[in-house]
Amino acid sequence: MQIHVVENYEKMSELAANYFAEVISEKPNCVIGLATGSTPVGMYSLLGKKCTEEGLDFSEVRSVNLDEYYPISPENEQSYRYFMNKNLFDKTNIDKANTNVPDGTAKDVDAFCREYEAKIDAMGGIDIQILGIGRNGHIGFNEPDSYLVPFTHLTALTESTIEANSRFFESEADVPKHALTMGIQSVFKARRIVILASGADKAEAVRDMLKGNISTACPASLLCLHPDVIFICDKDAYSLV
Ligand code: GLP
Repeated sequence: MQIHVVENYEKMSELAANYFAEVISEKPNCVIGLATGSTPVGMYSLLGKKCTEEGLDFSEVRSVNLDEYYPISPENEQSYRYFMNKNLFDKTNIDKANTNVPDGTAKDVDAFCREYEAKIDAMGGIDIQILGIGRNGHIGFNEPDSYLVPFTHLTALTESTIEANSRFFESEADVPKHALTMGIQSVFKARRIVILASGADKAEAVRDMLKGNISTACPASLLCLHPDVIFICDKDAYSLV
């Protein structure tokens, strides 16, 4: 794992946006793997600027998102589809038909998960994947557990994640208790992974990822086994390493 410790959130976002811009310039029809949460917002805003001000062309870019709450409608302002439209897709010239976010309204969940996984394969896999890290070390919605489901699946959120994500909802009771998420194996199909962490509330998760054993108790620690991972974090997130 390549590690970059930078001064602050802005520097982290800048470096991450540059990695993505490089891949998009080199391979205009690349597949980018996307994440939600507050961490990649700065990077998405920079990519939007690169598109509108510097001519970075998203017209052929394809994207696949890690996860989505379940059940949730794409029109719901708390849905990850809504988040992606607002924070990235509407700021670039990406063709929405080329963007994929798990379907929070899917009726047959097993069939949906199989199809999502097959779609990623049919696209030729992911060229570059962005990840955030949960306070408990989760990636996507792969929560710490004694075992992990490798491929796209429906999962129950832990209390700690429900509490952490309640800041985006009116109350904790409004946070969906389930989500559809790509599994660790789906994430590992990415040729390159860029993982970001910012702020002191991520310091324990970062320590466990880098200094603990590789364990499903900290899903992010499994990333140490992937051959091309770039970890970019600010000083606060790195403070316990
Ligand atoms: C959410 C998302 C993750 C994200 C994490 C951290 O639960 N499913 O993909 O990385 O929480 O979020 P934040 O960046 O807001 O700290």
